[in-house]
Formats: sequence, C-alpha cells, structure tokens
Amino acid sequence: MDTAKALITAEQSRFSTLRPAQTDGPFALDAAFRADTDPRKVNLIIGAYRDDREEPWHLPSVTEAKRRLKVEHSHHEYLPLQGSPKFVEASRRVLFGPAIVQQQQPFLASIQTVSGTGANSLVAVFLEQEHLRPTNIWLPNPTWINHADIWKVNAPNVKMQWYPYYDDAKRELDFGAMVETLQRDCQEHDAILLHACAHNPTGRDPSQRQWRELAQLCLKKRLFVIFDSAYQGFASGDLDSDAWAIRHFVSYPSIELAVCQSFSKNLGLYGERVGALHMMVSRSNPNGANLAAAVQDNLIDLQRACVSMAPLFGSRIASEVLGNSDLEEMWKADLSTMSGRIKAMRSALHDELLQLRTPGSWDHITEQTGMFSYTGLSKEQVEELQLKHHIYLLPTGRASMCGVTSANVSYIARAIHEVVSGQPAGISPEANSIKCL
Ligand SMILES: Cc1ncc(COP(=O)(O)O)c(C=O)c1O
Repeated sequence: MDTAKALITAEQSRFSTLRPAQTDGPFALDAAFRADTDPRKVNLIIGAYRDDREEPWHLPSVTEAKRRLKVEHSHHEYLPLQGSPKFVEASRRVLFGPAIVQQQQPFLASIQTVSGTGANSLVAVFLEQEHLRPTNIWLPNPTWINHADIWKVNAPNVKMQWYPYYDDAKRELDFGAMVETLQRDCQEHDAILLHACAHNPTGRDPSQRQWRELAQLCLKKRLFVIFDSAYQGFASGDLDSDAWAIRHFVSYPSIELAVCQSFSKNLGLYGERVGALHMMVSRSNPNGANLAAAVQDNLIDLQRACVSMAPLFGSRIASEVLGNSDLEEMWKADLSTMSGRIKAMRSALHDELLQLRTPGSWDHITEQTGMFSYTGLSKEQVEELQLKHHIYLLPTGRASMCGVTSANVSYIARAIHEVVSGQPAGISPEANSIKCL
C-alpha cells in the first residue's frame, strides 16, 4: 500500500504527507514590504512598471482603447478556444512583423494564452507528450524565477539542464561558457529556452553577432528553440529592435521554434493575463502547412483541458490598441515613455554612486537593459539594505528599476554606498522626504 493510502484512517488526513510549499520569493518579499511601516521604504522587487510617483501607470493608449470599447455595454461570452482571432492576428504581426507573417503564415500555429506564464506552461505541456518529448530542456542560469517550476510541474519527464549565462565577476553575459556548454552537452532535438530581449534577471542580452552564432548552433544541433518574449518594446523602446533575435531565427527555414509572448509589461495589462503562444514548424518540410494545422489543433486540445480558453477583457483592449493605427502610434509613444524613464533612472543611480565615490564599478547599471538591474550586491548587503534602510530587492541582488524615482534615487544610492563601503553617506530620513509628503 502506498503512503497516502496507508495514512487514511478516521483521524488522519491524506494531506498530512504534504511538504510545506514556499511562496514565490518576490511575492513573499512584496508582502514583507507591504507590512513595513517605515515611511522611507522603497520597493525594488516586483517587475511591474511604476511612474515617477511610484504609482502604477495608466498607459494613455490603453485608457483611450477602454474609452472606445465602451466596456459597460460589452458582453461576457466565452472566447473561441484559440482565443480572439483579432487579437491572435495582431499579436503575430507585432511579434514577427507583417512580412514574416505574410510569408510564413501556413507554417505558424498561434493560440491566445493566460499571458506569458500560460504560454510557457502550454509549451511545456505540449513537449511533455511522449512522442514529442525532448531529453532535456536547457534553461539559462540564472533565469526568471518561475521557469524551473513551470517545467517541473508541466513536463516532469523532461530533464531540466542549465547553461551558464552570466559572469558574476565581470557582470557581463558569459557567452563563451554558454556556447561551450551547449556545444558539448546538448543532445539533438533538445529544447532550449532563450529570452528574446531584456533578460530577466541580468539585463544582459546577446549582441546581434552572438545571436547569429546561437542560431547556427541551434540549427546544427537541431534544437527546438523556445523564445520567452515578455519585454518586447520595453527594453529598447522599439518593438522591432526587441524582436530582432526571433525574426533572425525565423530566417533559417529548418529551425522550429515556439514564442511565448506576454503583453503584461508592454501594455501594462499585468492582471488581465494577455498573451499568446506561437509555434512555427519547419518551412523546409513540404508537409509543413499540415503539420502547423496539427500543432494548432493539439494546442487547442491541451489548453482546453487546462483552462478552456484565455480571458476576454485584456485581449479586447490589446486588439483595440494593436488594431487601430492611431492607437498603435500612441502605444509606441507609451513604450518610449516607460523605457525612457527606466533608462533615466539607471543613469541617475549610476551618477549618484559615482559622485559618492562608492567603491566598485557601477557601469553595468547603465549598460544593462530592461526592467531589472542585476546590481552585483551580495545577499548580506541586500539584507542590510532591507533591515537598515527599508529598501527591498531580491536576495540575488536583482533590483526592479521601476521602483527608482527622482525622489528616492539619492536615498537608494546613499544606502547602497553605506552597505558597500561600510561608511555612512549622511543618510537622513529627510533625504527621502519628497516621497513621503
Ligand atoms: C522572463 C519572463 N517571462 C515570462 C513572464 C510572465 O509574465 P506574465 O505571465 O505576466 O505574462 C515574466 C514576468 O515577469 C518574465 O519576466
């Protein structure tokens, strides 16, 4: 008799064998931040954009879309299983660009998902099927905190492997070690996960030359490529530049790939769960169009079993923005506003640290891209920031730059100076007073 059954007596619960689950690190830390009553507290934890007053920002393009949709009169029917056709079509165009969509449409399967997390989960469930199952899924080390759990839960028979991604000492992408490991250890038909841009948590992306080399490697090893695209337009401010790597891989007809697309960050639709999974089959296969249709049907079947279909409301907003050229132009301006503010805060923090003569080099803060800075601060320094200065970031030293504002940047820099140098930099509660007004 197995353990669970043996335990079921009148007094005992079948759940007594459960091990305590750990709340996702950033969310647990966010709860600690909320409970902190110190007026100087700063939240550099969660990957959600904030304006310069530390408030969630209502993108003008999204506000205008909601106005035009007259949401109070709209219905709440189920979406089709594939999702909103208008949304799926628009999401393809934003990701691949009109030319690729026009040429490669027959080889493409796309389904609306429960945001980027849903797309990552669905591709894992899809590949877990015995006849498709790769031996290994290769994840970058480090990566978004949820990737490992997604693969553990959804594809328990695919072995998780890690490729080196980041050189802690140089605070740079460790491209040499990455390629060497993949060349040596990947098996044919393994799956590899790549961040399309704005790598979370390091903020370091391959250069175009390095992406070309990676595409060759994936081709040679016949790897199934999974791009996670959670920050398109958010990194550089330009949708096309941030999709460059994906479009480059697509230019190799025999590379088969999936893209997990999220509109959480770039449309500010975090809680609405808007995303898509796109899968492209070999463009060299004469039967490619039929294969794409089969992939499409299978994705629909699997998603039906998991969640039936993706939510309606957010995809309506996204379709309205992406489907009207004037709103799309407004959205592009919104992307520049968000990425521009983050870049300005990177420079401000960097300059403050230099002015304070904080020991070490801080150039990585301005060189990194996207929402996060991998500060290089140690676990102990992060703890001290939290305990003494009420500044919260992940134990890995990852700081969400969205929490940095013109009002708190000096306070943050001075606190970092103190934990790094052991010398006070004249921190006073007044230093952060503008925020507390
Ligand atoms: C790399 C990466 N992928 C996917 C996601 C998923 O986000 P969502 O499920 O909100 O689309 C995130 C969110 O932080 C992320 O950083």
